[in-house]
This record gives sequence, structure tokens and C-alpha cells, in this order.
Amino acid sequence: MAIKLNHTIVHSRDQGESARFLAELFGLPPPKPFGPFLGVDTGNEVTLDFLNADGMEIQMQHYAFLVSEAEFDQIFGRIRARGIKYWADPGRTEEGRINHHFGGRGVYFQDPSGHLLEIITRPYGSR
Ligand SMILES: [Fe+2]
Repeated sequence: MAIKLNHTIVHSRDQGESARFLAELFGLPPPKPFGPFLGVDTGNEVTLDFLNADGMEIQMQHYAFLVSEAEFDQIFGRIRARGIKYWADPGRTEEGRINHHFGGRGVYFQDPSGHLLEIITRPYGSR
């Protein structure tokens, strides 16, 4: 049996701003409204459903995305073009650098609500 993650809710200060940020940065289709959510389909049958936190405190979450080397170039290019801060480590001590864990490339950055996003070209633990 294989159980797939289908969707998750991303609490946001401004769901439109956050959903567009992710879709534009990753080159994905525009967010689609569904009930109170704005869904961004990552193309692997997983949807990130952005929802306004409506004054509730937002707990920072971490979302990591496995991308190809070519996609990394595109996304990282947009990060730099927009002047978005990025780090090589999740503790955000290595600003302006990327990592090369597991023979690939990885980088961390924040979305408009402060969630810590990560793109990697090799899964953790891969050789
Ligand atoms: Fe991670």
C-alpha cells in the first residue's frame, strides 16, 4: 500500500500573496480558489492550500521541494532576481550560500508568512 500526501493547509498572513509567491517562484499554474482556500498544485498530486490565518498566530512550518537541476536553476534564478534572502542551512546562519548535500544542491528561503521553504535536487540520505 502506498499512501500519498494529497494536500496540506498553509496558514498565511495573506493567502493570495503567499500562493502567488510560490506559484510564480516555482513556475506553477496560478492558484485556484476552492472554498476558503487558494490551492497551488505542485504537479505531483499534492496541493498546498493557502488559508488566511485571520489574526491567529502563524506557527512557522517547513516545506521542502525536490526539484530537477534545471528547475533549481530557474527557481534559484528567480530568488536572486527578486532579492529574496537565502541560506545554505535551516538555522539561517549561512546567508547568501547554497549547500551541496548528497551531491546535489539545496537552499532555504522564507515565504511571505515566514514559513521556511527549501528546494533540493537530491533527497536527504541519497548517494
Ligand atoms: Fe528540510
